[in-house]
Amino acid sequence: MTETYDVIDIIRTKRDRGELSDGQIDWVVDAYTRGGVAEEQMSALAMAILMGGMSREEIARWTAAMIASGERMDFSGLSRPTSDKHSTGGVGDKITLPLAPLVATFGVAVPQLSGRGLGHTGGTLDKLESIPGWRADLDTAAMLGQLEDVGAVVCAAGSGLAPADKKLYALRDVTGTVESIPLIASSIMSKKIAEGTGALVLDVKVGSGAFMKTREDATELASAMVDLGTDAGLRTVALLTDMAVPLGLTAGNALEVGESVEVLAGGGPEDVVELTVALADEMTRAAGVEVGPDELRAALSDGRAMDVWRRMISAQGGDPDAALPTAQESHVLRADTSGHLEALDAYAVGVAAWRLGAGRARKEDSVQAAAGVEWHVRPGEQVSAGDPVITLHTDTPERFAHAEAALEGAWSVGGLPPEERSVVLDRIAPEGA
Ligand code: URA
Repeated sequence: MTETYDVIDIIRTKRDRGELSDGQIDWVVDAYTRGGVAEEQMSALAMAILMGGMSREEIARWTAAMIASGERMDFSGLSRPTSDKHSTGGVGDKITLPLAPLVATFGVAVPQLSGRGLGHTGGTLDKLESIPGWRADLDTAAMLGQLEDVGAVVCAAGSGLAPADKKLYALRDVTGTVESIPLIASSIMSKKIAEGTGALVLDVKVGSGAFMKTREDATELASAMVDLGTDAGLRTVALLTDMAVPLGLTAGNALEVGESVEVLAGGGPEDVVELTVALADEMTRAAGVEVGPDELRAALSDGRAMDVWRRMISAQGGDPDAALPTAQESHVLRADTSGHLEALDAYAVGVAAWRLGAGRARKEDSVQAAAGVEWHVRPGEQVSAGDPVITLHTDTPERFAHAEAALEGAWSVGGLPPEERSVVLDRIAPEGA
């Protein structure tokens, strides 16, 4: 018979900065998932963990307990190695769209089990759903078939993976306990380990538009996740990437699909190309396939990655040739002086896109496919007085004022170009990887 523990003892132990035993962790995660630990008790425990942290051993056991709460997928029957990417979420982060087909071009299967957006960061499924006909829901057999035939699939994660995390994440969302590094690390990694990918590359964003606002916090989160993956036998590498400014030139569902197609056609903004290639390089290497950045760039320029994209979209009912939706109304913000774009704050752009209808406030809300923000210059580039700097798009023009308010003070044109910055800030990997 499984031993039972006293939940109040467990809460007191964490409240007093103590360490939980393996048995206590296994029990409390299982009992909570089954309804044997009350929501208010788990809230108190989550808050104690947020305040006091967890040891590496506790985080590993907590993650294992969340994995054990559900099913595990198995890709071992595929003829290709698998490599997945997880981003901690950012503004204008459309990288999955060009990345999955690019990596699949080189014989590595990419199973991207994704989610919908909540708050100021967009969700990959919302973006792809702006393509006429495309559907996110695939059963396991269809997903495995597509991975074998096409090599890349982006679809909705089933509810069977780590159900303990699903319940706990919803609770953390309403109790001010999302921002705990041990809880974020175990939440993300329980789902990725249960998914069964052979290799995993983490894109940990840093800056105003990201969960992690400082380099120190992002490094701590990345290290915790790399340790968890490595200890579970999963080849895991993390890149720390800049999210002080938004990625590319667009934030919004159809706008971002359009920009991704430009990248797959060999063009697109250089920061999006740079990050796509950097992550693809890590994903192919982690899967044991040596390609290198030059060959990856070549596959974007010569149409090989575009061919896989077209097959990936068609396999899920989408029409890669269909026109993307465009918004009924747009509103242009112009420079009032000449100079350099000195700044463009990622968080403000994310909030503006969300207010225009690109994102949702509650899980049940729907999104507008064509709503979003487009910026015509990147920080450092020059504009003349009267030039358009930002265009807002929506089907519901009463949203313009609220979106414009989010951008107040978030961008400026002046004499000083900002410091040049690279997208990839750091790499965190186990020794030798
Ligand atoms: N994403 C997750 O899946 N879990 C967290 O805790 C935070 C972000």
